[in-house]
Amino acid sequence: MKKIMIIFGTRPEAIKMAPVIDVLRREKEIETVVCSTGQHREMLKQVLEIFNIEIDFDLDLMRENQDLFDISVNSLNKLKEVLTEHTPDILMVQGDTSTAFISALAAFYKRIKIAHVEAGLRSYNINSPYPEEANRRFISVISDYNFAPTEDAKQNLIKEGFEKEKIYVTGNTVVDALHMVKEKLNNLELSAKNEYELNNSFGENLFAKPFILVTMHRREKFGDEFKSVLKTLKEIALQRPEYNFIYPVHLNPNVQVPVNEILKGVKNIKLIPPQDYFKFIYLMSKCLFIMTDSGGVQEECFVFEKPVIVLRDVTERNEAIKAGYAFLVSSNEKLIKEKFFEIENNLKNGYNYFNCENPFGNGKSAEIIKEILLNN
Ligand code: UD1
Ligand code: UDP
Repeated sequence: MKKIMIIFGTRPEAIKMAPVIDVLRREKEIETVVCSTGQHREMLKQVLEIFNIEIDFDLDLMRENQDLFDISVNSLNKLKEVLTEHTPDILMVQGDTSTAFISALAAFYKRIKIAHVEAGLRSYNINSPYPEEANRRFISVISDYNFAPTEDAKQNLIKEGFEKEKIYVTGNTVVDALHMVKEKLNNLELSAKNEYELNNSFGENLFAKPFILVTMHRREKFGDEFKSVLKTLKEIALQRPEYNFIYPVHLNPNVQVPVNEILKGVKNIKLIPPQDYFKFIYLMSKCLFIMTDSGGVQEECFVFEKPVIVLRDVTERNEAIKAGYAFLVSSNEKLIKEKFFEIENNLKNGYNYFNCENPFGNGKSAEIIKEILLNN
């Protein structure tokens, strides 16, 4: 019987691993062990609760305002202990966080096979997203199973010289995760109504106006560039009092401080804490459109048919750009405003941004991954 250890540390990794854990735990031929580095704390806890994920080992590493050394240095030694004691045949990592990279490195040092979920994403700019573009390239070098979400991701890996036999196109498990919870959206309608409309949590009706959903947290923008985007957002909000801008603010102090400094007090900008996954996708399903620098959100918005303004210089989700529902605007004030007003106008005129199949898969990725692990 194969022993597989799944490891994650942050909110998006847990969301995208949840369907894999679900499928593997039901498979009798596989022993599944789940480990969290605890790179995130509250934001991870929200995901574990929604998906009922039980953790076998929790390294509990998060520290206030940690830097890139903290997680990397602190996790490597602890992972050595866990991997030495529990000797999985395969360690599965997801994406491009510090947790994913350092865990893969620890497995490599222990000569344990590595399976990389969401392999082959590339922006081809080593500084953007930072440090994620480097992390995912490092993982590819030492990975034994590359689970590429799309054909483009597979082609990136082939172009870089990785062996075809180690690359499998699986779709993105984020679509599986959405399917797992989407069915429950109707039940959610009631509790979310309480939350967002009946003033229970926020002291006002957040849905009193149509709204734009906003998230931003990427490291490469921290500092002046981040502030400049916030100022542009503020100007747009002041120009468009007929909309609310709902912004669940990431807990990173490098995000919290400037966001509160620049946006707090703007009447139609609603700064709220990170929302649990149910509530966030509920917000996604109800918004007009989205402004974000998130990776996962660029993939998820297809399911809810919400166009997305990507507040980045480059994206590794070019499938979304090619499909015509995602738009790169960098931190450029003019581009952000132009795209905002264009999408607003197009939606008013009934323009349909979603004429193609979901480029990120059909929600069967976790099953495909399981079959590959069983048979290879
Ligand atoms: C990390 C990942 C990024 C991913 C993002 C998802 C790295 C280098 N970055 O960035 O790729 O897109 O997660 O959200 O791996 N914090 C809390 N509570 C939480 C989570 C974070 O208070 O539940 C605060 C802490 O002060 C922490 C800080 O945020 O020190 C930064 O967290 P960290 O995981 O290092 O970076 P993220 O910006 O979240
Ligand atoms: N998300 C969430 N609550 C929020 C904001 C985002 O559950 O308040 C979810 C979102 O649906 C997506 C994931 O978190 O699945 C994206 O996480 P994030 O943007 O932090 O990381 P990235 O995908 O950029 O690595």
